[in-house]
Amino acid sequence: MNRACRFLLAVAVVTILSCPTPGVYADTGQSTRIDNEKQHARTVGGGYPYREKSEYVLEELDLKPGDVVVDIGAGDGWWTEKMAQAVGPEGTVRAAEVTQSKVDKMKEKFADLPQVKPYLCPTDGTGLEESCCDLAFLSKTYHHLNKDGHVAYLRHLRSVVKPTGRLVVIEHYRALAAGGGRDHAWSPGLLTQQAEEAGWILVRCELITGTQHFIAIFAHKELFGAR
Ligand SMILES: C[S@@+](CC[C@H](N)C(=O)[O-])C[C@H]1O[C@@H](n2cnc3c(N)ncnc32)[C@H](O)[C@@H]1O
Repeated sequence: MNRACRFLLAVAVVTILSCPTPGVYADTGQSTRIDNEKQHARTVGGGYPYREKSEYVLEELDLKPGDVVVDIGAGDGWWTEKMAQAVGPEGTVRAAEVTQSKVDKMKEKFADLPQVKPYLCPTDGTGLEESCCDLAFLSKTYHHLNKDGHVAYLRHLRSVVKPTGRLVVIEHYRALAAGGGRDHAWSPGLLTQQAEEAGWILVRCELITGTQHFIAIFAHKELFGAR
C-alpha cells in the first residue's frame, strides 16, 4: 500500500470512529441536544427492555478479567452470564437470589462456567464478606428491597464493595412509569439521596436510550476527599 492509500485509510478510520452511533444520544459522551422530538421515545418494550441495550451497559460497567462482581437479584442469570464473560475464568460473579428455585436453575445453567457462583442470599444483605467485590450490581432489584431498608442495604454494600469499587443500579424511571408499573420503578433522585446517606457519591446517571430505564453509578465518598 502506498503512502497516499495509507493516509486515506487512516482518515477513513478516524472519521468512522468519531461519528456518533445513530440513535444513541443520551449515553456517555453523546450530546443531550434534542434534535428530533422522537429521540427520547421508548423503542424497546417488554419487562426487560434494557437487555436490548446490554452492549451500552457493559461498556459502562467496563469490567476487567479477574474482577469480582455481585449480581443482586440475578433472576434467570441473564446479566450474570454477560458479566461472567467479561470477568473471565479468573474472575467471579456471585449471583445472589432470594428465591431457591432461581438459584437451582442458575446452578444448572452455569455448570460449565465455574466463575459463576449462584447462592441463596438473605433479603437484607448479600451475606458476603467485607471488601470482596469490585462491583455490586442491582438490575431491577432495588425496588424489591425491604421497605425502609434501602439506606441500610446501601451501607452494607459499602462494606462489601472494595474502596475503589462501584455500585450500579438499573431501574425503571418512576416518573415515566404508568399505573401499576410505578410499583416496580424508582426515582433516580430518591436513589441518589439514599445512596448519599449511605456514603456513596453519584458518578453518573443516564437514561438508557430507547427504554424508560436509567443506570446510576456510584463510588465511595472517601475517594472524593482532599489529597
Ligand atoms: C425483576 S427481577 C430482575 C432480574 C435481573 N436482575 C434482570 O434485571 O434481568 C428481580 C429479582 O430480584 C430478586 N430479589 C428480590 N428481592 C431481593 C433481595 N432482597 N435480594 C436479592 N434478590 C432479590 C427476585 O427474586 C427477582 O429474581
